[in-house]
Amino acid sequence: MSVRRLAEDNVQPATFAFNRENSAWAKLAIKKYPKGREQSAVIPLLMRAQEQDGWVTKAAIEHVAEMLDMPMIRVLEVATFYTQFQLKPVGTRAHIQVCGTTPCMLRGSEDLKKVCQSKIHHEQFHLNESGTLSWEEVECLGACVNAPMIMVFKDTYEDLTPERLEEIIDAFEAGNGASVPVGPQIDRHFSAPQGGPTSLIDTTAARMIKNPPLAEGSLGEKTDVQAIKAPAKAVSLTDANRPVGIEKPAVVDDLKLISGVGPKIEGILHDLGIFSYAQVAAWKQAECEWVDNYLNFKGRIERDDWVKQAEALAKGGEAEYIKVFGKKPR
Ligand code: FES
Repeated sequence: MSVRRLAEDNVQPATFAFNRENSAWAKLAIKKYPKGREQSAVIPLLMRAQEQDGWVTKAAIEHVAEMLDMPMIRVLEVATFYTQFQLKPVGTRAHIQVCGTTPCMLRGSEDLKKVCQSKIHHEQFHLNESGTLSWEEVECLGACVNAPMIMVFKDTYEDLTPERLEEIIDAFEAGNGASVPVGPQIDRHFSAPQGGPTSLIDTTAARMIKNPPLAEGSLGEKTDVQAIKAPAKAVSLTDANRPVGIEKPAVVDDLKLISGVGPKIEGILHDLGIFSYAQVAAWKQAECEWVDNYLNFKGRIERDDWVKQAEALAKGGEAEYIKVFGKKPR
């Protein structure tokens, strides 16, 4: 674990201010807390400042302290404690946080660090030549069961080998980070055993057990039933919520224009018979969830709003996308 200090003065900007959108967001965030407890918004505000500038500057810390009427030292304590906050400029495409705590270390994190050293920079917290990548070693990130693992911004990539990490770094360097599925990089669903569940494998909607008979004179029947929540159902290709696929048409849409879809994900969508923006635009909640689970995306389809993106692209291509989102599709 490295000592966490603010960046040198010569890289610190003189001032910080939230842009208009973030300023409005920050005011709403502060209002979520009871009167007199507004300081609880310190973490969300610092995170928003980091998302705006790419790292947490001294000026941002002072600004947040002022907004929350807190002594600057209290905000500084928070920013320097959590490794989620970057205190100096990091790679614009990826800052790779390698967990080096015992379970990850026993499962190969030292080799992951060597990959970062060879592909990014020998020293942590140093940018690669193009300024797009950086790395650091951090303490446990809470995914020990899938060790070894890394975190890039808010996403974790687990069950890594040095070779897989090299591929992931290459994808981020090429600007295709969104195409890398988050979570386990092997045949594992979330933190279930590798290869599939080994217990609680009764997939009926609910398993019923009998409770002891009710005491005499009590209301109701002498026995009762209690539903036990079934384990999450594995994603099935024959599930009714799977979006309807079509035969590959002569002309297919470029699904990669949807933010979150890279070449690999586009190939998987094609395998599912999804070739057009109109198909994605027509997905209902259940279908989005099915695809999200199938890709092990943990809600990313909703977060990236694939449906709205596809609607715009289906309606008027890039021009409509720019009209709706104020920027070009990726
Ligand atoms: S030890 Fe690496 S995630 Fe916990």
